[in-house]
Amino acid sequence: MSFSVPPKLEASLDEVITRYPQKRSASLMFLHALQEHFGWISKDAVEWTAKKLDLEPINVYELVTFYPMFREEPIGKKHIRICRTLSCALEGAYKVRKQFCERLGLDENTHGPVTSEDGEFTIEFVECLASCGTAPVLMLDEDLHERVSLQRVDEIIEKCRSNKPCPPAPVEVSHPGEATIISVAPQKSADESKASAAAAAPIQSQSAKSGTHSKPKSKASKSSKSKTSKKKKK
Ligand code: FES
Repeated sequence: MSFSVPPKLEASLDEVITRYPQKRSASLMFLHALQEHFGWISKDAVEWTAKKLDLEPINVYELVTFYPMFREEPIGKKHIRICRTLSCALEGAYKVRKQFCERLGLDENTHGPVTSEDGEFTIEFVECLASCGTAPVLMLDEDLHERVSLQRVDEIIEKCRSNKPCPPAPVEVSHPGEATIISVAPQKSADESKASAAAAAPIQSQSAKSGTHSKPKSKASKSSKSKTSKKKKK
């Protein structure tokens, strides 16, 4: 097996094992660390992990195939994950992906991640990236880019190609399609609350004097009395 893990990484993974009561509990931590370093999980990485954790390779491989965040293929130098869930789909995620594919000469109908021939870019559709209010969004490696326009797609490609930094562009906080459906009344100050209680007091005492609140009760008691007297007559 030509696979080799840098000694520093291996030492940090050995330390991870000591945090768990059983070695196998460190499997996911191993896979995350290896993917972060190599970009994907090869068969050799699976076997290496299994050996370190006293497992069979299948015990590790089943994790790789179960969790969608683990990749079994190498990816491009720039990994672009475009959210395709509802908010982003409605706000143009499919057009964004189409634009990337057209510009990079990729087949937009390919299912799953697709990598450019020069190995520079991998484009992938993913599910909700938890920024629905600023749709459409994408992750350029580990950076979240919000409200991605088609013009922004071209900028991202151009900057990545020329090895320039491509930080996320600032965006407004609220989504243009958002509307306030519940408005919360501003909290009254202590003085304002006292003033409104004082204003309400005369009205309450008037209604108490006029017996406004007792009328329905007396009607009810009258009708119940008449019902009992009718029963007695019978
Ligand atoms: S739907 Fe795209 S971030 Fe939630």
